[in-house]
Amino acid sequence: MRIGIFGAGYVGLVTGTCFADLGHDVTIRDIVPARVEALRAGRVPIYEPGLKELIAKNAARLTFTTEIADVVRDADVLFVCVGTPPTHSGDADLSAVWTVVDELPQDDRRVVLVMKSTVPVGTGAKVRTALDERGLHNVGYVSNPEFLAEGSALSDFRNPDRVVIGAYEAADGDVVERLHQGIDTVFVRADVASAEMVKLAANAALAVRISFINEIANVCELTGADVNTVALGIGLDHRLGKHFLRAGIGFGGSCFPKDVSALKQLAGNAGYHFQLLASVIEVNELQKRRVIGKLQKHLGTVRDKRVALLGLAFKPNTDDMREAPSLVLSARLLAEGADVRVWDPVVEDLGQLPHGVVVCSSVEEALDGADAAVIVTEWDELKSVASADALARMRTPLIIDGRNLLDPETVRAAGFTYEGVGRAVGPAVSA
Ligand SMILES: NC(=O)c1ccc[n+]([C@@H]2O[C@H](COP(=O)([O-])OP(=O)(O)OC[C@H]3O[C@@H](n4cnc5c(N)ncnc54)[C@H](O)[C@@H]3O)[C@@H](O)[C@H]2O)c1
Repeated sequence: MRIGIFGAGYVGLVTGTCFADLGHDVTIRDIVPARVEALRAGRVPIYEPGLKELIAKNAARLTFTTEIADVVRDADVLFVCVGTPPTHSGDADLSAVWTVVDELPQDDRRVVLVMKSTVPVGTGAKVRTALDERGLHNVGYVSNPEFLAEGSALSDFRNPDRVVIGAYEAADGDVVERLHQGIDTVFVRADVASAEMVKLAANAALAVRISFINEIANVCELTGADVNTVALGIGLDHRLGKHFLRAGIGFGGSCFPKDVSALKQLAGNAGYHFQLLASVIEVNELQKRRVIGKLQKHLGTVRDKRVALLGLAFKPNTDDMREAPSLVLSARLLAEGADVRVWDPVVEDLGQLPHGVVVCSSVEEALDGADAAVIVTEWDELKSVASADALARMRTPLIIDGRNLLDPETVRAAGFTYEGVGRAVGPAVSA
């Protein structure tokens, strides 16, 4: 089939490239000319493992454009993969979605508009009404929410747990299902509103689990239990499962924070106070800040202390820094008067970092003269951070492991003071 994609971001590029790899002809449109020029020149503007190679492999079936006419011409299916960032009110900003809908040209052919962007429940109904008011009865509408995770996006596309298809016309849903031929999965056929809710509810459920295990970790710290052992014991219960039980410094990224907030606001706008999600958000905010308390416990004040933040991306194997804990931590530490050094192996766009942060090109550089190292992102490169070289470089050998990446015993035996999240706490180091 001929597929048009709106948005050459994480979702649009992965979706378009994977559909091209399944044999479809794909045109991807973005409104940022530099992004399209880079893609045409073989440069991929985001970091996603395997994506660059897959784009190169399918170059003959992939076209990149800034022009709406190119993406709509001859297309059987149009995917909306534009951003839906949070507004100041916590609702989703749908302006990019509406631009796509409003710009769709009149056409006599049947085309199916597929919403992959994460949108509030009720958006499909509003889009359907808007299309009908413009006489675009030939444009079908399908909600097909995306569940891929950055860092494993290609394999998530190829091996999805399920594909959710919410359609007004069953035939339009059939078209979307047929597009996925070659992928072995369960298709959940739904009404549009339920499909929209599946996405928001799934992300909310994952966020609940993260905040839950983080609170268990905080109680473990006060009572002498070890959260990794507790998570293992919980996860073996078949009713619970082992995923999303890793304690840490809170969730970030472009999806969980905004989708949880969007669902809370959606409920509020409909007259329901979603108490549980309000707590999940609050727990997550506080979790990021606990690192500051741990630093202060060991160093006294962090004023004029050099703190190395290791990892900027919100998780490994991506360069995405949207809502990353590193942003909150660096801003809080700067506000406390600390000298903040940061390192990340892939993040290149540092525009979101607060002014005053020193960016280092290696872990060693970040650790030179540091009073503390904080593992913010569990990059593989950091597994060996507690080395003799690091011990010699640091002014105070303190490691705060925000991701429980390291083995406490080994790190302490190497001469460091170590604190993870929800793990037995060692003696305080004097700064
Ligand atoms: N990133 C993820 O892991 C992920 C996973 C599941 C769902 N989602 C959802 O998918 C959507 C896209 O997310 P993303 O991370 O890919 O966003 P992104 O910000 O990386 O990419 C969006 C792209 O859309 C482009 N754009 C904006 N208006 C446009 C228009 N009118 N026509 C064409 N392109 C336009 C932007 O320039 C940008 O390149 C969001 O709703 C998000 O919540 C994201």
